[in-house]
Amino acid sequence: MRAEKLVVIGQGYVGLPLAMRAVEAGLDVTGLDTDSYRVKRLVAGESFVEDVPADRLGRALGSGRYHPTTDYADAEGFDVCVITVPTPLRNGVPDLSHVEQAGVGIGPYLRPGCLVVLESTTYPGTTEELLRPLLESVSGLRSPADFHLGYSPERIDPGNPVWRLENTPKVISGVDPVSLERADTFYRRLVDRTVPVGSTQVAELTKLIENTFRQVNIALINELTMLSHELGIDVWQAIDAAGTKPFGFMPFRPGPGVGGHCLPVDPCYLSWQVKRRLGRQFRFIELANDVNHEMPAHVTARIMAGLNRSGRAVNGARLLLLGLSYKKNTGDLRDSPALDVAQRLCGLGADVRAVEPYAESHQIPTGVLVVPLTEQEVRAADAVVVVTDHDVFDYDLVARHARYVFDARDRCVGPTVERL
Ligand SMILES: NC(=O)c1ccc[n+]([C@@H]2O[C@H](COP(=O)([O-])OP(=O)(O)OC[C@H]3O[C@@H](n4cnc5c(N)ncnc54)[C@H](O)[C@@H]3O)[C@@H](O)[C@H]2O)c1
Repeated sequence: MRAEKLVVIGQGYVGLPLAMRAVEAGLDVTGLDTDSYRVKRLVAGESFVEDVPADRLGRALGSGRYHPTTDYADAEGFDVCVITVPTPLRNGVPDLSHVEQAGVGIGPYLRPGCLVVLESTTYPGTTEELLRPLLESVSGLRSPADFHLGYSPERIDPGNPVWRLENTPKVISGVDPVSLERADTFYRRLVDRTVPVGSTQVAELTKLIENTFRQVNIALINELTMLSHELGIDVWQAIDAAGTKPFGFMPFRPGPGVGGHCLPVDPCYLSWQVKRRLGRQFRFIELANDVNHEMPAHVTARIMAGLNRSGRAVNGARLLLLGLSYKKNTGDLRDSPALDVAQRLCGLGADVRAVEPYAESHQIPTGVLVVPLTEQEVRAADAVVVVTDHDVFDYDLVARHARYVFDARDRCVGPTVERL
């Protein structure tokens, strides 16, 4: 019997781990991506996603059942297609052009009985109102009569060693009960537990609830942190103490802002849809965005004040930033608040150096010099700023040798350390 043929459109942070998992589950996987550089690297066994080490990619290639490609014609004869392309904002508005292009690209290869699942994060209604008519018009087939269609949000947490694709429950939906059953059967081969829900809109909203919940709670703690600083109260201790409550509380930690592909973007998909459909503002989301956007300016101001206390101006000061990615232990610099902080400090005339072991050099903003974390660099800096707390950093070394540390992540302890 031939292996089931899966096409994963988009071989990024979401699509590549999914493709690897599917190869390991015995499927024949075509990894489609329009980025020829990425595909070339995948063919050569080079992974750019931390959660997929090169040896795992090598095993998938070696199995003969993983085929990275830029050519949609290689989708011919597929059984299941999962779409994992980006869903960014353009001028604050959802940009679904990648999903549309994926639909146009795969449409000609749909055949009766096949299944298409959208995984990209998006506003409720996208699968049925945008993707379904598009696939129908390109393929000439109808859903659900001819092909099955569903939505399943991705919950991947890059860099998380505990919760991976296979042990994180997967929410599944379909445009009708048969599509749901078909999608559920497919994902049960890949993950330990599936969570079927009643409609694609519910599944789409599920993802947006999860990320809006994080965005709003982070904003709450960020605002509280700025106010507690002025009140002279240690907010970190208060959060830790509140975190001992065994029920009804979940601790969130402050930071220099939110970044990445999800938290600054996904809630805006929801507020945009609410505005479009109901003509109303989603006030929590707007407020949370405002607070989180304020954080890089707040961090910059606190560093300036810290330098000022020891008689130094930020102009001409040598600053060592630890971490530039938006979250720890990844090299993902997309929308990272650390870049905003770096750019503000450069703009103020500081000599900005950064330690960022995960990002590729072409991603580093101009004006920022990447250096290793050494005693010499720490001693030479007027201030060391913990922006993104990668676990590989030696925080004891920093606390021992730095003249002044501004720690936005609560990782350093010592008399020269000031916390956000
Ligand atoms: N990164 C995460 O942690 C995460 C978590 C959950 C959900 N998501 C969502 O998953 C989706 C994908 O995110 P990602 O982080 O994997 O993005 P990514 O940018 O890492 O990867 C997307 C890939 O899709 C490719 N692509 C774009 N248009 C294409 C097309 N028409 N045909 C084929 N390939 C195309 C791009 O070249 C890119 O390699 C987004 O909607 C995102 O919000 C991401």
